[in-house]
Amino acid sequence: MLEVRDLHSGYGEAVVVRGVSLDVGAGEIVALLGRNGMGKTTLIRSIMGLTPPQVRSGSINWRDESLLGLRPHEIADRKIAIVPQGRRLFTSLTVIEHLTMLKNARAKGGWTVERVFGIFPRLAERRHHRGAQLSGGERGMLAVGRALMIDPQLILMDEPSEGLAPVMVQHLEEIILGLKREGLSILLVEQNLYSTLAVADRVYVLETGQVVHHANVGELAQHTEILFKHLGVH
Ligand SMILES: Nc1ncnc2c1ncn2[C@@H]1O[C@H](COP(=O)(O)OP(=O)(O)OP(=O)(O)O)[C@@H](O)[C@H]1O
Ligand SMILES: [Mg+2]
Repeated sequence: MLEVRDLHSGYGEAVVVRGVSLDVGAGEIVALLGRNGMGKTTLIRSIMGLTPPQVRSGSINWRDESLLGLRPHEIADRKIAIVPQGRRLFTSLTVIEHLTMLKNARAKGGWTVERVFGIFPRLAERRHHRGAQLSGGERGMLAVGRALMIDPQLILMDEPSEGLAPVMVQHLEEIILGLKREGLSILLVEQNLYSTLAVADRVYVLETGQVVHHANVGELAQHTEILFKHLGVH
């Protein structure tokens, strides 16, 4: 469904994503692993049409249509949502306002505020709290809930477990697997390797803007030396 080919993207003179090709199929969870500064966020933002960075060359196709040159809201109209790194919530907007601000009035069915509250009961309790008043875990839930409200078919998740307590990470894993069962596709940037192995089907490892390894999760679990070599973990 999502097909990235030989993508180059960067900031000014600096090309940070250097020839990345990857695919995300229908109902697939694909993880993007890599140490800090390797270009994961740059790649995710490039797919979502967010600038900076600027895409230099290559292609990004979604259901056989090019996304290059489209604005982020046009990409969202094509059912691609983002959970940005650091959440990027509004300090003065309430939980409810975050969830309803992007809802396309014409969209029927799919995700509603009540359904988001169903999977994140904590957000229901905090519905009138403002972004600035939320805990780290609540912000993480709200960022995921906000992404769901556009009824996405693909979610780009940039380190959704960052800063979450272990019990919340586990909850997030369950949510992600639940979305997969509903047929959603997810491109997941993760630093938490165990979380990745628990949910992903396939993994790409990014090093200085290039894919240096690509494997099914089962293969990766058997070849932990690869993880050590590229990620510095056992
Ligand atoms: N707005 C920017 N302007 C210039 N350079 C940037 C900008 N954002 C990121 N970079 C650089 O691009 C490179 C890749 O950054 P990126 O944020 O894509 O890495 P990352 O893999 O997401 O890292 P992390 O795991 O820390 O989030 C880094 O060298 C970073 O300094
Ligand atoms: Mg990042």
